[in-house]
Amino acid sequence: MHKRQRKLAPIKHKELSKEQLSRNSYLTVERNKCGSKLETLTKMAISHGKNVEGHLGLPQFWRKRARFSDLMTLWNPSSYMEIGFNAGHSSALALSNSRNLERYLAFDIGVHPYVKPNFEWLKRQFPSVKHAELVIGDSTKTVPAKHQENLKFDFIHIDGGHQEGIAYLDLVNCKNYAHNKTLVIMDDCILHVNAQALPAHMHGPNNAVRKAINQGLMEEVCLGYVDCEHTVLRYM
Ligand SMILES: C[S@@+](CC[C@H](N)C(=O)[O-])C[C@H]1O[C@@H](n2cnc3c(N)ncnc32)[C@H](O)[C@@H]1O
Repeated sequence: MHKRQRKLAPIKHKELSKEQLSRNSYLTVERNKCGSKLETLTKMAISHGKNVEGHLGLPQFWRKRARFSDLMTLWNPSSYMEIGFNAGHSSALALSNSRNLERYLAFDIGVHPYVKPNFEWLKRQFPSVKHAELVIGDSTKTVPAKHQENLKFDFIHIDGGHQEGIAYLDLVNCKNYAHNKTLVIMDDCILHVNAQALPAHMHGPNNAVRKAINQGLMEEVCLGYVDCEHTVLRYM
């Protein structure tokens, strides 16, 4: 006897969720604007034979990358400063998504062999950025030392030392580089969840931001999205 064949329901074209849609469109944007640069930076870093520290180019950070790129596109800064250049992935996203960038200043302690060569390569990819500079050293010293009265930035990204003391000093020292509309993005900081539930590497940046807010130095300007793991702030 033939087995009775069950009629299968036709497979419907799976509808993409909003999340998937935005992911897809972000990926398209990335491919057009920055994808190959992120890959090149990773390859260059790996070629030094050492481990590459965590960065915004990693596949699992696609939401964070998308939100970061969005912020750059919307805010369109003419000047961008970053503490924690590492292999240059977040800088590449910032530079690719800012249409009128003229000044770019990066700080890094320089313990990884790929920091300087990656910076030089990235700089060459953006010849329209008139002033691009990397300052090597501990940011708690180099950021105050580099400051000049008129050196202000539209956007400051803090992603260097994750110990509370360093992250807090970075927040304090960056105030001199901010004008009244500067946005500050603090990486690995989510204020709207139970702090105990956060992974250990986020404790320092979270505590530092809470302290800066409690002291009236800064305020949050929009929600730190849980899936993006960064918080946007401005100085008061
Ligand atoms: C998490 S990585 C930055 C990732 C990068 N922003 C990205 O997403 O592409 C942190 C970087 O900050 C550097 N760093 C750590 N402590 C620092 C300090 N006190 N001053 C300056 N840079 C520091 C590390 O060596 C590393 O290169």
